[in-house]
Amino acid sequence: MAAIEIVLPAVEAEDRVVETAAGRFRVAGVRIPEKRVTADPELLRDLVKVARAAAAKAHVPYSHFHVGAAVIMADDPEGRIITGANIENASYGATVCGERNALHAAAAKGFRKIRFLALSTADSLGGPLQERSPCGICRQVMREFIDRDESGGAALILIDTGDANFTADIVDIDRLLPYGFRL
Ligand code: THU
Repeated sequence: MAAIEIVLPAVEAEDRVVETAAGRFRVAGVRIPEKRVTADPELLRDLVKVARAAAAKAHVPYSHFHVGAAVIMADDPEGRIITGANIENASYGATVCGERNALHAAAAKGFRKIRFLALSTADSLGGPLQERSPCGICRQVMREFIDRDESGGAALILIDTGDANFTADIVDIDRLLPYGFRL
């Protein structure tokens, strides 16, 4: 199928300054420019399907909440799909999310730039975006592997909807994690 252009709309809100007797405070605004990304919708659909299938491999005896992720890295010449699922532990803090397991597997193969990352919270499909979205730590890890140049800026994150009429919600890292930390 022919590639389509996906337009992520600009988000713009001005900073506001609050003057008080204790000094001035700045309420941070947001300034995210419009972004246009070209992608093959069949590939995006297939990646979401792979992410949902990967959720079946989750080790979730504590939460019973299955998460699968599938990533294609822009700097992988083979464009292969690398998957992950959430793996829990009796020592709860040792749990690692599905998105990070996929991304760290990709990084361990030497890749550093996300092109497309799909995730599927298989047990909350049909729920609002907040119940299907990546956690804050995973957003920060995505930030690490999306750079600012042309190919990195084109990275898309696809969130499985479970809705027959909508394959995925599409976001990018700027919209998922404004002010994500950078050194
Ligand atoms: N989980 C993920 O795998 N990804 C997320 O972004 C959110 C949470 C996992 C962690 C844990 O195994 C289960 O979902 C419940 O929090």
